[in-house]
Amino acid sequence: MFDKNNRHINYLRISITDHCNLRCQYCLPETDNSFSNKNDLLNADDIEKIVRATALIGIEKVRITGGEPLIRTDFLEILKRINSVKEIKKIAITTNGFNLLNNLDEFSKNGLNRINISLDSLNSDKYKKITRGGDFEQVMNSIKESSNGNFERIRINVVIMKGINDDEIFDFVNLTRELNIGVRFIELMPIGEGKRFTSMKNLEILDIIKSKYTLERDAVEKTDGPASYYKISNFRGEIGFISPLSNRFCESCNRIRVTSNGFLKLCLHYNQGIDLIPYLRSNTSIETLSEIIKNAIYNKPKEHQMNCNSQDNTIETKRMNEIGG
Ligand code: GTP
Ligand code: 5AD
Ligand code: SF4
Repeated sequence: MFDKNNRHINYLRISITDHCNLRCQYCLPETDNSFSNKNDLLNADDIEKIVRATALIGIEKVRITGGEPLIRTDFLEILKRINSVKEIKKIAITTNGFNLLNNLDEFSKNGLNRINISLDSLNSDKYKKITRGGDFEQVMNSIKESSNGNFERIRINVVIMKGINDDEIFDFVNLTRELNIGVRFIELMPIGEGKRFTSMKNLEILDIIKSKYTLERDAVEKTDGPASYYKISNFRGEIGFISPLSNRFCESCNRIRVTSNGFLKLCLHYNQGIDLIPYLRSNTSIETLSEIIKNAIYNKPKEHQMNCNSQDNTIETKRMNEIGG
């Protein structure tokens, strides 16, 4: 379907939990434990209903997010339910990579096509510090293993923060020399804990990389997301930039989100949307649910205002772990 700004909406991001087994410094506070109760999270039935209802209005791609989606013990069941919806052509996940290694074949057999893995340092000690406890070797093994698997795309998400990991840009670029993966630099957005850190503009990162390498733009296939990609000649992988602050991509936004508590969010930056739980946990038909969602999507906000420090009461106050990024 198209929204009132004539954007083709065909991509659903669904957060299946706000819990996480890590506590990345820019995402979660060190001690606060205000996570949802299990009963307040979407269950596999709810998720299937949402996917069926949105498929009726043209959703073709679903990305499963969190928190950390792979800590759900019923993850495979959720994947199977999404995969049972015939209109869905792509299923993707964004994960920290911890529970991937032993499950890759099972996930691939059940329809998972694409994996994005968050990794903000290639230095084991620093990784532990940023994530407050994560095991770098385990994630790196998952990345290597999945890049050899049957997946269409494996990508790493790197959030560069000044004074923290900005000395690792070339190390990340170098990963694409041997591995057939995308390394994507994401500008830190001033959401939740993210406000405490100094982001680095992607143009600065691009200039640093260009001081050493020639980046080729045309060699890369056009994608359906906000990243722009480049390749270095003879490197197997590619390098991407997601620049929500310096190069707002809202004009071509194709996505809606559902939070782990079942709230349909129309834009990352605003709290506008509708609570789907009453419809999911009653006798509402899939067709009616679909109509309700369609009417909401039509009014999707035109663009975010992250750069303007706007304080109006429609600005999202939820944390990234509830929204799913
Ligand atoms: P694909 O396009 O499917 O590859 O996914 P993605 O890159 O959107 O997904 P991922 O979950 O890996 O997100 C990477 C980063 O992009 C995260 O920091 C997200 O918050 C950010 N991001 C994704 N979608 C949007 C969006 O619509 N608006 C903004 N501002 N940021 C987004
Ligand atoms: N700004 C940009 N990216 C963020 N992520 C989490 N919080 C932020 C933020 N404030 C990223 C994570 C993960 C993806 C889902 O979102 O690094 O890769
Ligand atoms: Fe879409 Fe909102 Fe993200 Fe802009 S900020 S790309 S409108 S979700």
